[in-house]
Amino acid sequence: MTPTFRTSQGAPAADPAVPHLILVGLPGCGKSVVGMRAAEMSGRAFLDFDAEIERREGKPVSLIFAEHGEHYFRRKERELTEELRLTGGMLLSPGGGWIANSEVVGLLRPPSRLVYLRVRPETALKRMGRRRELRPLLARPDPQAEIRRLHEERRLLYEGADVVIDSEHLTLQEVTEQVVALLSELR
Ligand code: S3P
Repeated sequence: MTPTFRTSQGAPAADPAVPHLILVGLPGCGKSVVGMRAAEMSGRAFLDFDAEIERREGKPVSLIFAEHGEHYFRRKERELTEELRLTGGMLLSPGGGWIANSEVVGLLRPPSRLVYLRVRPETALKRMGRRRELRPLLARPDPQAEIRRLHEERRLLYEGADVVIDSEHLTLQEVTEQVVALLSELR
């Protein structure tokens, strides 16, 4: 099957040897906004995994979890990742839990590079505001405890990224500029 992604900006490079840049980090760390802006500034194709899965499934992630379960959603993430092996040179923003399956990550890296947008779990939660209710793993009685748990489970995986951007005290614009600089180094 020929993959068709609804990317923003340009088309993905046809050469899979050109690395993708993949933004990773907790929900609320700014992956989607930074990714969208950095792609715009650099003319790269951008793909937000959750948005693409929602488009394909015709329903929001929260409903996918509710109707089919997390396992089904993870399968969709994996399928999308497999398709992205056939392309290169994109800026990608998978959901925060994508990092947890090393086999799936290994489908793209190497040659793709991971960039961790590091923020404290409390900051991520604050930045999300009411939008946390759209995240099924956080739409629970104690979202603070949940995001801390996710952070604890994934911290070492995120820290294993090729580049860590300490985003805690940076504006989204400053983080975006750092990502644009990284993109300009990728060939
Ligand atoms: C998830 C993060 C979400 C989304 C899903 C699961 C996670 O994406 O993929 O709700 O496991 O952390 P964001 O990181 O974009 O919120």
